[in-house]
Amino acid sequence: MKLIFALAIVLYVFVSNTDGFDYKEVLGKSLLFYEAQRSGKLPADQRVKWRHDSALNDKGVHGEDLTGGYYDAGDWVKFGFQMSFTITVLAWGLLDHEAGYKAAGQVDYTRTAIKWGTDYFLKAHVSDNVFYAQVGSGYIDHQTWGRPEDMTEIRPAYTINVTNPGSDLAAETAAALAASYLVFKDVNATYANILLEHAKTLYNFAYKYRGKYTDAFDDVRCCYNSSGYEDELIWGAAWLYRATKDKTYLTYVEEVYPVIQYYIGFNWDQKIGGADVLLAKLTGDSKYLTKTKNYCDNMLATTPRTPKGLIFITQWGSLMTTAYLMEICLEAAALGANPEKYRAEAKTQIDYMVGSTGFSYVVGFGDKFPVHVHHKAASCPDPPAKCDWTQFSSPDPNPQQITGALVGGPGANDDYTDVRSDYVHNEVDTVYNAGFQGVLATLIELGYSD
Ligand SMILES: *[C@@H]1O[C@H](CO)[C@@H](O)[C@H](O)[C@H]1NC(C)=O
Ligand SMILES: *[C@@H]1O[C@H](CO)[C@@H](O)[C@H](O)[C@H]1NC(C)=O
Ligand SMILES: *[C@@H]1O[C@H](CO)[C@@H](O)[C@H](O)[C@H]1NC(C)=O
Repeated sequence: MKLIFALAIVLYVFVSNTDGFDYKEVLGKSLLFYEAQRSGKLPADQRVKWRHDSALNDKGVHGEDLTGGYYDAGDWVKFGFQMSFTITVLAWGLLDHEAGYKAAGQVDYTRTAIKWGTDYFLKAHVSDNVFYAQVGSGYIDHQTWGRPEDMTEIRPAYTINVTNPGSDLAAETAAALAASYLVFKDVNATYANILLEHAKTLYNFAYKYRGKYTDAFDDVRCCYNSSGYEDELIWGAAWLYRATKDKTYLTYVEEVYPVIQYYIGFNWDQKIGGADVLLAKLTGDSKYLTKTKNYCDNMLATTPRTPKGLIFITQWGSLMTTAYLMEICLEAAALGANPEKYRAEAKTQIDYMVGSTGFSYVVGFGDKFPVHVHHKAASCPDPPAKCDWTQFSSPDPNPQQITGALVGGPGANDDYTDVRSDYVHNEVDTVYNAGFQGVLATLIELGYSD
């Protein structure tokens, strides 16, 4: 009798676990990916040991120290627009889903990942109305292949300022700093207050001197064009309102909102989807939640799905795009909009990403995952072996594992080939993991992880 009972328990555990994934493990690995993308002097507790100090000469046009921050993706440029959004999203996730992070034992690692970004933003904000937007040239960087530790290429630094403003970039960085202020205010109030002061100053700069940072200097046009700055002005104001409770920021929201009232979506260029659901939470005004709910309902009902079930929105970075959609739908769910439906969908979509098709798109998670990802450093053998375009063209797996990175993802028919040259589907990017990680933390908090 006892034996049968024990067997039944074993069977129950086995069956109930067969369709679950260990999101906590994935979340922990995602934070390793952020360590692998660190630029500058690495700390003694760096866990990704195949990475070393790099770009220690990154500096501004007047010699300002610009070391640190994150390399964008498989390349070695530090793109401010991409990096600031990444930090805003990481901070948002930690702030509102700390229980999920805690359950996974990742709170401290996530704070560290955020601080690696905010420390760099503080350096880059050299005076009230001057902010370093980018270090390294996309055009120069993409001509070479190899380790960041070996870089000899020129790394120009570009500013935004009053004559060449970038309201989008300045407001997004203000959002990142305001959200990070909230993350750190009970951890280190001194540090948090420094972040908040910079957030306010950067927001004022963004608001007063209007322009797209893509028009401020040419180099970023390789990679992260901004389509407009009104969405960042609203998103940044929402974060500053959350951090300060100063209603002036809400008047900014109301002033700018009419221009882009019909905008939707949430990604590194488009912030209105995030702003809507954040404003829904902060103001309780039903118009914001209704808009988010309509957007989610429409996307879930009308977006094509791959044969195996991925909501397929964009060819480039298909998984990230879906993860960002799921993130705002989960935030809406937390405010009472279709919670069962959105949560079930988010679980389905995340499961697709981590292995429900028999293949995991997260490096180092599960049995089968990408081993040829487009990442210059991961493709290099240990030094002193040379690393150049030979490694790019090699059919061999990457000698280094870029653990925790989510790749771009499949095409519309679940088509995906694990080849290094395919940066559309097989590159990794710090902005991909940020939204993905936010969704993981939410699902863990909801008890959906094994
Ligand atoms: C302002 O920024 C632009 C674009 O990066 C740059 O060309 C210009 O030199 C800067 N102006 C000043 C006064 O530094
Ligand atoms: C708190 O932050 C300040 C400012 O960055 C720093 O100097 C100080 O060492 C930090 N304190 C702790 C306990 O980490
Ligand atoms: C960015 O915009 C410029 C012109 O506005 C265009 O030439 C370039 O191809 C765009 N870059 C990308 C990656 O879309």
